[in-house]
Parts: sequence; structure tokens; C-alpha cells
Amino acid sequence: MLDIKNCKVTDRKIDKLLWGSFIEQMGRAIYGGIYDKDHPTANADGFRGDVIDAVKALEVPIIRYPGGNVVSGYRWRDGVGKNRPIRLNLAWQQLEPNIIGIHEFYNWCKQVGSELMMAINLGTGTIQDALDLVEYCNFAGHSTIADERRENGQEEPFKIKYWCLGNEMDGIWQIGNLPAEEYARKAREVSKLIKIIDPEIKTTLVGSSAPDLPTYPQWEKTVLEEAYEFVDYISLHRYYMETPDGKNESYLGQYKDLERYISTVWGIVLETKERKKTEHQVYLSIDEWNIWNKSNDSSANRWLVSDRKVENIYDYKDAVLLANLIITMVKNCDKLKIGCLAQLVNVIAPIMTENGGRMFLQPTYYPYEFASKHLVGNLLTFDVDSPKIEAGGEIYESINMVGAENGGEYSLLITNNSLKEDFDLSIDLPCDAKEIKSVKVMKNAPEAVNSFDCPNTVVPTDGFAQIKDGKLILKAETLSIIMLIIDRESK
Ligand code: AHR
Repeated sequence: MLDIKNCKVTDRKIDKLLWGSFIEQMGRAIYGGIYDKDHPTANADGFRGDVIDAVKALEVPIIRYPGGNVVSGYRWRDGVGKNRPIRLNLAWQQLEPNIIGIHEFYNWCKQVGSELMMAINLGTGTIQDALDLVEYCNFAGHSTIADERRENGQEEPFKIKYWCLGNEMDGIWQIGNLPAEEYARKAREVSKLIKIIDPEIKTTLVGSSAPDLPTYPQWEKTVLEEAYEFVDYISLHRYYMETPDGKNESYLGQYKDLERYISTVWGIVLETKERKKTEHQVYLSIDEWNIWNKSNDSSANRWLVSDRKVENIYDYKDAVLLANLIITMVKNCDKLKIGCLAQLVNVIAPIMTENGGRMFLQPTYYPYEFASKHLVGNLLTFDVDSPKIEAGGEIYESINMVGAENGGEYSLLITNNSLKEDFDLSIDLPCDAKEIKSVKVMKNAPEAVNSFDCPNTVVPTDGFAQIKDGKLILKAETLSIIMLIIDRESK
């Protein structure tokens, strides 16, 4: 029996915004994904009803849009009003018909129950373009630009609260790539001025595109030095891939990299705060995170509207790695306040569609759904001392877990990363843990996948656990994910 002790209900808050997502004008995310006017389930706006239901079921709190790399060449005026030009989407070498623009995407967000987080073009876009965009979206009074919004059908301001100050501006692939100092000044000015238009606005400064780039972590130091007091978050981006040794043990342990990444950037934030002698606290926003195995990239076609781009097929071990990444995000909830799973439909996504046809949910959909619905509220911590796994240069626990207290419930997410050993677990619970409400288990072969023909190969099934003498007793089988909800004693 493996004893897991010292369960603590902390006062550290897990923000619901940690479980946001991202949809870019890329591949078939929009055209052929959320929008497919000839699909049998399409509504009057041309949005697929089955996709709306799948996104709604995820309870995604916030969705970042329109990019990603796209935003650095995006002309927002193309997507409002009657005249919708067809433009070159240089980031992904596609054609952008601009059928879906701000109004349409905002309406879709309302239909799926999510808030819209807007990214601003700081590549080809000027400071004035950014100010006009914010005035168009959020200004409640009567100015020429705000009245244009009204003429285009939106009387009330969109009230978009969260704004990203560009995207991956350190990357040489980025349209209008900038050196750190130049980017920081432009972003600082935009942030300063859009907060005058709408003081409710919160902004995210662009951090490095990935911690393995040469810009990191000097980029973070420079941009925070320049803009610290004018922004609210700094972004992290991280995609995990196959490891060089191709071993499953190395693959699953990649969440240790995320721990280091968060702690390094947080260290820079605290250092900058201290140096500036300010009370203002910048937090972290991981506004792109996921698993991305490039081998599935099929971007050979150019200049199509609805082109297949990185339609990654996720397998069961991806779901386990995703659960491990979720556990890391939750454990860092006092630093990390926003997260966007990149992306949501078709492009490196948990939801896959056929143009005009079927839909299926990838294995990664399920731990993400559990997190979004249940890992919110107060952080629950445990002392885990399980057999260690040493692989890919990392040492990590076989049993990885975290929990949350959310009103009348405790929720626990547990992974057993061992490929060899089952564990009988005895887990200390808070004394008001009353009875088990639900136990869902995922357990498949590492390479098992879902598909349009077999959509239910990798899905959670009912598991078993019991509470005995204040302890939670259950078996964690090799390479499994356990998602538990426990009712609390009512006060
Ligand atoms: O999510 C796909 C792409 O990955 C985004 O456009 C970019 O920001 C990142 O490199």
C-alpha cells in the first residue's frame, strides 16, 4: 500500500481562466471546424451545432483569437462590415475569406458560453490600429469608430477584458518580428493607451515563444523591465513533442520542464517587481500550451481557405502527458492565472471534424474537460513519495496528483506514470470528505487513438474507490488517469 499523506486545503486559488483555449484563423479551425454552413447541424449563423455542444460541454472559460502567428498580419477591419476582402494569410500560407470576423466570433463565443480574449497585431499593425480596434470593440460612448460597431449590428460594447499584446514577437518566423526593446516599447504604449479607452482592460505582454529559444530568458527580463507597470500578465508558450530517445517514460516526464519554465519566468517577474519597488503584481499566462507532434503536419497545400494544418492525432499517452501538465499548472496556480490549450478544433485540438461530416473527441479532451469543470477553487496539496521514474534526463514520481476544493466538492486528478507497476493507494483526505460521487478512469494502450470510425476507443470509464477511516482507498493501474469527485459534509 502506498500512503499519500498530509492533505492540505490551501488558500491558494485556482483561477477558472486556467482552462481557456485558443482558436486561430489557421488550417480548418474556423472554416471546416466551427463554421461549416452546409453541415446538417449548422445553425442560422453557419456554426456547427455538434461542435458547439462539444465546446459547451468543456465549459471553456475564455478563448484567445484570432492568433497566434496570424494576428501579426491580421487587419481587423477586414472582418467587420459588409466589405470582406480575401487576404493572404502569410503566417500559414492560406487564403483568408474574412467571413468570420470579430462580430461573428464574439457571437460564437456567446453560443459556447466562453469569453473572448483578443490578440492585437503588433507585427504589421501600428499603435493607432490597436487603439482603433479597442475603441471599436469597447468604447461605450458615441465616437465615429464606436458608431461603426453599432452600424455593424452591435449596439453594446463587446467589453473584451483580456487583450494579448501581440504574439511570439521574438520569433524570426513572426510577421514583423522585433527586438525585445522595440517590442516592449510598442507593447507598453498600446497597453497604456488602451487602458485609457477602457480601464477594465487587462493586458498580456509577450514572453519568449519557447524556453529552448536563444531569446529566453533575456527577452523576459528586457520586456518586463520596460513594461512591467503597464501590463498584467506575461505569456508563456510551450508545446511538447516526441523526445529524442522515443521512450514513453521520457515522454511522460516532460511536465518537469514546464515546472522549471514557470519557476524561471516567475523568478524574473519577482525580481523586476522588487527592482521597481512597486506593489503591482504581474502574473503568468500560458496562452499557448499543448502537445504537438510535427510528424502529423500536412501543410503541403498552399493558398486554400480550408486547408489541413497540424491535425495532430492524439493517442492515449498524450492524454496522460496532458494530465501531468494540468497537474503542474494547478500546483502553480498562485503564479499562473490564465491558460489557453492550443488549440480547440482540428488544429492540434481535442475536437476533430470532417468537412460537412462527422466529429470525434480525442483522448486529450477528457482530462481537459475534468480540469475545466472541477479543478477550480482552492488548491489541495498532498505529500507524494512514490517510486521514482528516471528517464529523458528527468526524475519524477510514478504517482502524480493534485486536487481542488470547490464549494461542496473535492476533486482529485491522479496519474500513474509507471509502465510496470500498479499501486494500491491510501490517500489522506480532509476530515469533511464524506462520500465518493464519481470515479472515472482512463486506461488504454499508449498508442490507442480515437477516430471518426471508432470514436470511443479511448474514453473514461467508471472506476472504483472507497473512503475508509478518513482515507481514500483505490488502485492506480499502470499508465492510468483517475479523476475523482468527493462530496463534502454539508455545514
Ligand atoms: O498554435 C499554432 C501556432 O503555434 C501559433 O500560431 C503560434 O503562436 C505558435 O507558434
